[in-house]
Amino acid sequence: MAPYTNGVRGIVLAGGSGSRLHPITRAVSKQLLPIYDKPMVYYPLSTLMLCGLRQILLITTPHDQAAFVRLLGDGSQLGLEISYVTQAHPNGLAQALILGEEFLRGDKCALILGDNLFYGPGLGTHLRRHVDVEGALIFAYPVADPSAYGVVTFDDGGRVTSIEEKPTAPQSHFAVPGIYFYDERASAFARQLTPSARGELEITALNNAYLARGELRAEVLSRATTWLDTGTHESLYEAGGLIRTLQHRNGMRIGDVEQIARDQGWI
Ligand code: DAU
Repeated sequence: MAPYTNGVRGIVLAGGSGSRLHPITRAVSKQLLPIYDKPMVYYPLSTLMLCGLRQILLITTPHDQAAFVRLLGDGSQLGLEISYVTQAHPNGLAQALILGEEFLRGDKCALILGDNLFYGPGLGTHLRRHVDVEGALIFAYPVADPSAYGVVTFDDGGRVTSIEEKPTAPQSHFAVPGIYFYDERASAFARQLTPSARGELEITALNNAYLARGELRAEVLSRATTWLDTGTHESLYEAGGLIRTLQHRNGMRIGDVEQIARDQGWI
């Protein structure tokens, strides 16, 4: 049985307009769309569960909240405590830390984006080792063209030296995947942010607040880890195909929240 990580809470950010997936997401939340045989949100939720987190906040649009509650309820069937908060407008990823302030009660947290999917041998063990952070920890994943992501540079010790949101001239090949570990100060720092040129409280700005204090570290995700964000028709289709192939080939289930709850000894 894997230990439960005490003093760290999980947040899944599953709001947003899903405009890149219109017309599919006009009537249905993106994070409820199927990735092969499961709703998208199962995958990020399973990643938090693999971190040993059992207290989870799910942030959705006001319109979609009822559907998520139908799907996951209070989480007790999975040995979890799931609470819900709505985000009225997609004002940026860092707003999750403000909306989640009451839920966090001053605890540390792991924030994961509802459309980010991680898979890989030993991933849970790797993440669990790092989730109880001092300062903040982000991850770095080498990609051919990182310009559509947060881009990070760091020294040999993993100390971050720069982080930029969607730079036209990226300073490295390391994209920042949508999972972030923060200490108790994340909500307070998020409250001090001002909206970016596109009007959002950027997660990169929050990470920069930790960087400015010399308290932002990056961990390279092993190449054996698969990281997908599923925000476009292409990536959505590819992700479904990949999960299908992996499950067929090795007979293992990916993102199966019930199986993980059982393996963890929570149900
Ligand atoms: O996927 C990783 C990338 O996610 C990072 O590398 C970037 O640094 C980070 O800014 C973010 O970039 P995206 O452009 O992919 O973020 P996007 O606006 O697509 O939002 C990601 C998810 O969060 C998406 O499922 C919608 C949801 N969302 C988004 C916003 C802006 C919300 O729930 N609320 C929001 O206010």
